[in-house]
Amino acid sequence: MGHPAQMATEMRRGKRRCLESFAKTASERSHIPTHVTRYMDKVGPLLFENRDKTLLYRVIIAAETVGSTGVSTLSIAQILGVSERNNRRDDITSAVMFLDGWCLHGLEGRRADLDRLLRRLSEDRRLRNIRVLVDKPIDQRSFSEPMLLCDDPRGMLAAVHLADLAEVTANHAERIVELKYAA
Ligand SMILES: Cc1cc2nc3c(=O)[nH]c(=O)nc-3n(C[C@H](O)[C@H](O)[C@H](O)COP(=O)(O)O)c2cc1C
Repeated sequence: MGHPAQMATEMRRGKRRCLESFAKTASERSHIPTHVTRYMDKVGPLLFENRDKTLLYRVIIAAETVGSTGVSTLSIAQILGVSERNNRRDDITSAVMFLDGWCLHGLEGRRADLDRLLRRLSEDRRLRNIRVLVDKPIDQRSFSEPMLLCDDPRGMLAAVHLADLAEVTANHAERIVELKYAA
């Protein structure tokens, strides 16, 4: 539970956002019955909280990596550098693992930002045969960073009883995310 003054500020912010979208000016509100505006003021912030949550999606892709992608330190550093910058800008959180010529990449964010990123990934020559394993709305994020590199891919695979990333299914991918979240 936050400090009462802080909570009051948050409520005012939520209320303002709500009013901005429902009815921008006092004159726009004037034709709405008072019991309705009172209701709007009360549930608006809650609606917005829910709406923000349902706007988040998790997408998990598996792909083959080309050449030294995901193997050499330089290639990994390049991917992490660009991803960190872009994902921070787009409010995307993610985690990636590389193993034996494959990568598994989990992404969370708003639909439009994820779709834009998926398009860039599909045009990236360092990847081929991209498979979307999971694409679903989420209540909350499991990844906390713009781009996290899994430092023990073999251990992760063993934990979900998977021998080879080429065989990864949606189930394995979800399980890996759960383990990563719990870690
Ligand atoms: C395995 C892999 C993962 C990547 N992940 C991301 C990512 O999470 N975010 C991102 O912006 N670019 C990512 N990229 C790079 C994109 O494919 C693309 O090159 C980049 O987004 C272009 O950004 P720019 O237009 O700012 O140069 C990834 C590339 C590879 C090979």
